[in-house]
Amino acid sequence: MTERAASRTAVLVCQGRAVADGRLGIGRFSDPLATELLTAPERELVDLVRSDAVPTSFGPRMEYELLSATAEVLAVRTIAIDDAVRAAANPQLVILGAGLDARAWRMPELRGTPVFEVDHRASQAEKRARLADREPVADIHFVPVDFATDSLATALTSAGHDESRPTTWIWEGVVPYLTPAQVAETVTAIATRSAPASRLIITYPTPNRAYRYGRKVMQLILTLSGRPNPMAREPQRSTWTPEAIATLLAARDFTVTADRDLESLAAEAKIEGRHRSLRADGHILTADRL
Ligand SMILES: C[S@@+](CC[C@H](N)C(=O)[O-])C[C@H]1O[C@@H](n2cnc3c(N)ncnc32)[C@H](O)[C@@H]1O
Repeated sequence: MTERAASRTAVLVCQGRAVADGRLGIGRFSDPLATELLTAPERELVDLVRSDAVPTSFGPRMEYELLSATAEVLAVRTIAIDDAVRAAANPQLVILGAGLDARAWRMPELRGTPVFEVDHRASQAEKRARLADREPVADIHFVPVDFATDSLATALTSAGHDESRPTTWIWEGVVPYLTPAQVAETVTAIATRSAPASRLIITYPTPNRAYRYGRKVMQLILTLSGRPNPMAREPQRSTWTPEAIATLLAARDFTVTADRDLESLAAEAKIEGRHRSLRADGHILTADRL
């Protein structure tokens, strides 16, 4: 992603939630705001996938399958993260790389809770324009930060985050876009602002050659067939084994209390789906400051 461009992967995952809403994980997943945050052309693809009208030509078919797989991943990870946020019930929430996350607007449990949405300046500006005058249930604070260049700790202090009270941190769908050094630096900053009982929830990709190859082929087909490739300017920069990320967290006084792969979470949430191979690399972990 360049300095000025808003994230396209944030739009892709929002489209995924819009596809999933009312279709996947019913009773456990719901995000009606997702559709509202999309532009009319972005909604067209959502409607196509929701209609189950599988395109026959190659490029449109690839776009369809990418979004359909994204919807399955997003339903699963949203359910798991929402559960972990509710269980912690901490007095503040920081959402790192928030994109078009709607938790501060849709989760009644967050009523009045300070929620700090941290994101790249351009992505955040675009979200605010899309939101227009929609009122959050939470007490929202927008904190523009580039994890590659800015001090997260300084920005949070200025925004009013209270380091003496427990914080739940959500880092969803962001780690793959950061280098290992940027991930480590960000966890260090998080650790300095995490009072006892704080909780860090992270989604991360594990090394999986078949998955990486499949993703590259998918992107190539999109490009060759003239379809938009949402990943074009946001390359994957890191993958983690469960052991490596647990070691990184332990060195900063966080204990991994749960680490699940998306596949087993999908089975538990009864989200079978057609795209097992496309979520084969994903994990969600919860690390607590005990
Ligand atoms: C795939 S989106 C995920 C958005 C959101 N967490 C979700 O799951 O809906 C990736 C997000 O990470 C943010 N991001 C990526 N690199 C970043 C960086 N260096 N600094 C700040 N934000 C970054 C993007 O702006 C984008 O909002």
